[in-house]
Amino acid sequence: MAKLAKKRNEDPNKYLIGIGQEKMAVIPPTQDAVTLAANAADTILTEEDKEKIDLVLVATESGVDNSKSSAAYVSELLGLKHNIRTLELKQACYAATAGIQLAKGHISLNPHKKALVIGTDIARYGLKTPGEPTQGGGAVAMVISADPAVLALEDASSYYAKDIMDFWRPLSQTEAMVDGKYSANVYLEFFEQVFHDFQEQTGLTLRDFTALLFHLPYTKQGLKALRLAVENIDPTQATKYFNEFEASRKYNKLTGNLYTGSLYLSLLSLLENSDNLQAGDRLGLFSYGSGAQGEFFSGILQENYRQHLTNKTTSLLNKRQEVSVAEYEKLFNSVLTNEKNRTLDTTSDPATYVLTGIKDFKRQYQKK
Ligand code: HMG
Repeated sequence: MAKLAKKRNEDPNKYLIGIGQEKMAVIPPTQDAVTLAANAADTILTEEDKEKIDLVLVATESGVDNSKSSAAYVSELLGLKHNIRTLELKQACYAATAGIQLAKGHISLNPHKKALVIGTDIARYGLKTPGEPTQGGGAVAMVISADPAVLALEDASSYYAKDIMDFWRPLSQTEAMVDGKYSANVYLEFFEQVFHDFQEQTGLTLRDFTALLFHLPYTKQGLKALRLAVENIDPTQATKYFNEFEASRKYNKLTGNLYTGSLYLSLLSLLENSDNLQAGDRLGLFSYGSGAQGEFFSGILQENYRQHLTNKTTSLLNKRQEVSVAEYEKLFNSVLTNEKNRTLDTTSDPATYVLTGIKDFKRQYQKK
């Protein structure tokens, strides 16, 4: 980010501190929302999961088709059964949260089944725009079951929706349009609204939470929301929340905005980087999607949850290869769009699932 800042004639600290981002994930043209999702799910699914999954919800605002869902491609690539329901969900960065809540309802009715929920996106604002340093991309996959290994979702949830234009992407556009400052303010308003409602509804207060997690379009945004949450408590007690926040933003600082996956990458970051968490702790999660939808909900960390963490995220992130600003701009401009035919060179893409090109408007995927 410091190198990008210099190229854009900005003070590096604007990106590093003011925005709160150290690195930005640059997605090669051989990856799209489908392959990112398949690659994420492939790392966590067991044979038992594959046998029991009968609902696949892929949340994305980077979908590759106006009709066919990403979930249809992803389920086939992963070798899942055919007697399943597959569906794509869209409401900006919020949709994976909707997926989790819908999956929770499905599992409540069908406790012997499992659901796969994936948030997968590539955040593109355009070169040399104010949103550029908040770009990024990636996917997070989660299995929802009646016997959760990591986090048990609690029943209460507070949600709020309003038709506003803070961030949008018309059908013809490959880059998002945004009213940046407005979006940042609305995010905070929605947070206060749903966090307040949640406390009224449940009787819980901030002290009942070990940590608060946020959708992180860039990590400074979550910090601003946390500052609002702790403004009326003793500063020494607030320190605990700021410490957990540092653990929860570690991975997001290294990737940029994942859109739908952002909140859940932050959850993973907290789980893998906090030394203070223990089973029984309550985590509060704030999901936000422009347009706009907000939701606050909570979960309880399960016994032995640490045994279920793969702790592979740091090594995965460290395996990435740095590109120069010129190379990043080239990659940015070579993304597959509305072409009829094109073959992509996948030799330098180490991922298991890759996009090899497009033939007669049909995307071609391969498992390496
Ligand atoms: P900007 O206008 O270029 O930046 O773009 P700025 O001038 O506001 O500066 C940013 C911060 O850096 C400020 O801090 C400056 O003071 C500070 P703040 O006032 O915010 O605390 N700063 C410095 N700090 C240290 N040293 C320095 C220095 N210089 C400046 N030298 C903006 C910022 C966020 C508007 C832009 O990047 C943008 O439009 N981003 C995209 C929109 C976005 O992420 N919105 C977030 C809320 S909406 C959301 O979360 C939904 C979303 O994920 C989409 C979806 O739902 O699908 C986006």
